[in-house]
Amino acid sequence: MKNILITGGAGYIGSHIAELLLNKNNNIFIIDNLARGSKKLLNKRVFFIKQNIVNYEKVKKILIQNKIDSIIHLAALTDVQDSEKNKLKYFKNNILGTQKLIEATEDSYVKNIIYSSSAGIYGNSKSPVNENSKIKPINNYALTKLKGEEIIKKYSKKFKYNFCILRYFNVCGASPSGKIGIINNKNKSLFKIIASQALKKNPMVNIFGNNFKTKDGTCIRDYIHVSDLASIHNLMLKYINKKNKSYTLNCGYGKGYSVLEVIKKFEKIIKKKIKIKIKKKRKGEIIVSYSNISKLQKLIKWNPKFNNLNKMVKSSFAWEKKLLKMEK
Ligand SMILES: NC(=O)c1ccc[n+]([C@@H]2O[C@H](COP(=O)([O-])OP(=O)(O)OC[C@H]3O[C@@H](n4cnc5c(N)ncnc54)[C@H](O)[C@@H]3O)[C@@H](O)[C@H]2O)c1
Repeated sequence: MKNILITGGAGYIGSHIAELLLNKNNNIFIIDNLARGSKKLLNKRVFFIKQNIVNYEKVKKILIQNKIDSIIHLAALTDVQDSEKNKLKYFKNNILGTQKLIEATEDSYVKNIIYSSSAGIYGNSKSPVNENSKIKPINNYALTKLKGEEIIKKYSKKFKYNFCILRYFNVCGASPSGKIGIINNKNKSLFKIIASQALKKNPMVNIFGNNFKTKDGTCIRDYIHVSDLASIHNLMLKYINKKNKSYTLNCGYGKGYSVLEVIKKFEKIIKKKIKIKIKKKRKGEIIVSYSNISKLQKLIKWNPKFNNLNKMVKSSFAWEKKLLKMEK
């Protein structure tokens, strides 16, 4: 049994990790201020504490009282466009939040920390990017994620913890159980937008820029299914604990799909035409981003179950249908 704290565990990705680690017989504690998350995503067996990670005293007490040995730190604001408009809000929440959380681990039982970073930190570096590719965030959100990485690294020796920085690419899909998925309407990921439009009589999707230097002019991303991503957390937590070492790893499937390819796949599966509106390209948008994951594959036996576009689209759409039923 392990006592694992998941910050941001009432959010989209955190709730999937919580579910998986609960089923592996861990005690799961969640801190979330519910700015974006929801208690509806939580299993009754998790210990939920509504709290902001910036609150050093409260967080420290939670760590000590519950003898937390591992932290999976996901709490963050995640909207790129919002971060361009509200830089200070993002810096306070994501950077100061991480700093305070890490400071609270001093003289605690915490031995392992997993941190959710983002492919955004590579900016427009040439894909496929590996962990040594040039780091060049081009928006405030990605910059906050990079600063978070630096904080995690800086204190690891002093506060005696192993860390694993996981740089997620674009996360999509929902749990095969149908119990959890994205419920926050502020989530603006492509899969969420298309899947919710797909339920309408006349689906319509905006494309922000269609004359980039890519195969069809639209942006390219490496999508990873949330269940496969959750399993990396389980495997890497065990790995850093056993090896007593720290790592930084890309988390994707190593394959890029364009926005148009994703839309076309949805059309095929929902058997409906999706109307496209071309809009101006957005500020801070990365054009091509996909991963090299050889480092991850060398370290652990990760057997992804959803690594094709068909499965990812079907999973996202199935969840959206379920959500509609739940809301009725
Ligand atoms: N979704 C993706 O494609 C993606 C890609 C790369 C990285 N990430 C990272 O993964 C993590 C989780 O993302 P998500 O998509 O599940 O987003 P999400 O918004 O669903 O989850 C984030 C959770 O953190 C909580 N939170 C935010 N600030 C907090 C604070 N100060 N104190 C306590 N709780 C706080 C929110 O209420 C929310 O429940 C984030 O750190 C994000 O940067 C996500």
